[in-house]
Amino acid sequence: MALSPSLVDELARRRAQALEAGGADKIEGRHQRGVMSARERLEALFAPGTFQEVGLHARHNTRAFGMEGRPLPGDAVVCGTGFVDDRPVAAYSQDFTVAGGSLGEIHARKICAMLDHAVKAGVPVVGINDSGGARIQEGVGSLSAYGQVFYRNVQLSGVVPQIAVIAGPCAGGAAYSPALMDFIIMTRHDANMFICGPEVIRAVTGQATTLADIGSAEVNASVSGNVHFIAENDQHALDLTRRLLSFLPANNMLDPPHRLTPNLLLEDDPALDALVPDSPKTPFDVRLVVRALADDGDFLEVMETFAANLVIGFGRIGGVVVGFVANQPLVKAGTLDIDASDKGARFVRFCNAFNIPLVTLVDVPGFLPGIMEERRGIIRHGAKMLFAYASATVPKLTVIMRKAYGGAYLAMCSQDMGADLVLAWPSAEIAVMGAEGAVNILYRKELNEADDPAARARALAEAYRDEFASPYLSAGMLFVGDVILPRQTRSTLALALRGLLSKRENRPPKKHGNIPL
Ligand code: HXC
Repeated sequence: MALSPSLVDELARRRAQALEAGGADKIEGRHQRGVMSARERLEALFAPGTFQEVGLHARHNTRAFGMEGRPLPGDAVVCGTGFVDDRPVAAYSQDFTVAGGSLGEIHARKICAMLDHAVKAGVPVVGINDSGGARIQEGVGSLSAYGQVFYRNVQLSGVVPQIAVIAGPCAGGAAYSPALMDFIIMTRHDANMFICGPEVIRAVTGQATTLADIGSAEVNASVSGNVHFIAENDQHALDLTRRLLSFLPANNMLDPPHRLTPNLLLEDDPALDALVPDSPKTPFDVRLVVRALADDGDFLEVMETFAANLVIGFGRIGGVVVGFVANQPLVKAGTLDIDASDKGARFVRFCNAFNIPLVTLVDVPGFLPGIMEERRGIIRHGAKMLFAYASATVPKLTVIMRKAYGGAYLAMCSQDMGADLVLAWPSAEIAVMGAEGAVNILYRKELNEADDPAARARALAEAYRDEFASPYLSAGMLFVGDVILPRQTRSTLALALRGLLSKRENRPPKKHGNIPL
């Protein structure tokens, strides 16, 4: 018995109508601006032919404001599942061509269904945001709908990776869904994200500002630290999403996608010996070290332009996926400040939640001294680093390259913070504080009375460095497991990581800790 042609026709008609979204003219307008449609974005994210849409026939049920009978195809959001590198992913993509991508009850139910699916199936979720926010015609119902999305974002946190792409407007409370997710990728020219726009700011504070000043991708990535990656356009944003997913497990019960090398033993890399300057005062770009340690130099840096004094990101060593955390001597001498502490601590917690071992590279003269740092709470923020590392039960490997001073030494995953292995290079200086500072405190009287105080201070600092800051002193006290040449670092880390792949560390049960926020 064949299906009646009228049924086939009706399905075709309904599908065509839904797929037309807000109209061919609107989609064409986007193409002219170099912007993809909502559905094209999902097709660009997933392997060809793997996108399975759900909720295509969704309809809103609003009657107010002349909405009755007004078709909003898909209720302004395209949802479904697909495959990235042969791994399933759930996704949704707001459709600005339909009622400005505004979020009403049915729209939110579609998103929530994807989030629920992600938990049940144990797969990552990607949310592409392009929306005028709460659908005004649906009133408080759309606020509640946002609440349901936020609630699920929190339930999913630490269970499956959540990635937000901001590819258009994302204003007001709507920005809190991406903020609750793990990573935000924002397109440079077509997106904005803010809580209160320029008009509201002017009305309330009298201050004049622009959208670019408060909500551009650049400001969100470099100044406020809301955004983890800037993409040049839609295609780049989706390429970045796939690249990020290539380092992440599908859920918190699985290992990340290691690509273990058949050979346990890696070659030494003599180039590393030359990367770090002899003088502890000469800065170097720590990203060169990270790339030299990562397989094929492949390093995905996260939050590149925010708190650049700390470098974080993903790579592999001997095929093992790792999260790198490294002081950057090129910026603020590699000190830890409030922003760097926030950045590092959240990254460490993400890696721990998703079973990604941590490799910490240390060259830190201390926490950043400053009146504003103290007044804004460097104590509270710096404590996040200690809390995050001490709570992390994933394999933790630390390499002390040069300076490791004071509390910042501990905050960069020292032995006492539970590091499984601490290595030091011969150039390492591990001490309560830098030699110059220590000498000024210990020998103030003697220096005041010296004929040539500067020369005396230099000599005393040298002696302090040799006597108190030497890595062999720390190695002798078992704070450092071994002192190795830089060239041996990659092979040593690779072997140690392989030995720690089945690490288990049990802690007393609790609801959750109370990280200083
Ligand atoms: C219903 C909306 C809408 C909304 C846009 N549209 N936003 N419909 N509810 N929130 C509709 C417009 O009426 C228009 O419909 C179409 O989408 C395109 O909008 P335009 O204004 O023509 O587009 P554009 O000039 O590109 O401007 C985009 C925009 C602007 C900057 C996003 O639309 C805007 O300011 N929208 C309102 C933003 C806002 O204040 N939202 C509420 C935020 S509060 P037609 O039929 O003409 O095509 C919020 C609370 C969430 O979201 C709280 C959660 C806790």
